Amino acid sequence: MRFLCLITVTFLTRLAFAANEKVPLDPTTGMKMGADWEIVRNHCIACHSPQTFLRQRATEANWTSTLEWMQTNGGLGKLDPAVQKTIIKYLAAHYGPSDSGTDRRPPIPATLMPRNPYATDARLEAAAKKQEGLPPRPPAPR
Ligand code: HEC
Repeated sequence: MRFLCLITVTFLTRLAFAANEKVPLDPTTGMKMGADWEIVRNHCIACHSPQTFLRQRATEANWTSTLEWMQTNGGLGKLDPAVQKTIIKYLAAHYGPSDSGTDRRPPIPATLMPRNPYATDARLEAAAKKQEGLPPRPPAPR
């Protein structure tokens, strides 16, 4: 029974990948025209080129944090939760991590990075304060 399940899962996974490869591309945006692609287009190309997200590969969790980052820093407004979920599902399904080896590598942990040769006293002071949990205040507006 287990074996049968495994075969079925393998078959379905292959089918899903095969289906994914054949998704036609929208000639204008280059987006894969999978389910709900127009919702993503309508929400995601007002501020930047679709290439900004088409060349990225990420899991659902990472797409979620990218969207949240943009809501905090990029001027993206709050989305209806159902719409946000649809967008993230589309992105993770069509632009999820792959085995191709062409994905962006994860950031190198700070502990493995060489010492910054351009460190100035000000930067060292800021880094020390940050470690103490005292992020330096930005300069007061003039
Ligand atoms: C209100 C404007 C706005 C909208 C709408 C918007 N973004 Fe962005 N996005 C930004 C800004 C600003 C940046 C930062 C650009 C930069 O750093 O050059 C950005 C950057 C990105 C990045 C790059 C992040 C990185 O790590 O380099 C991705 C991916 C992205 N957006 C995806 C999306 C998706 C998906 C949507 C649709 C939900 C979307 N954006 C809608 C403003 C927007």
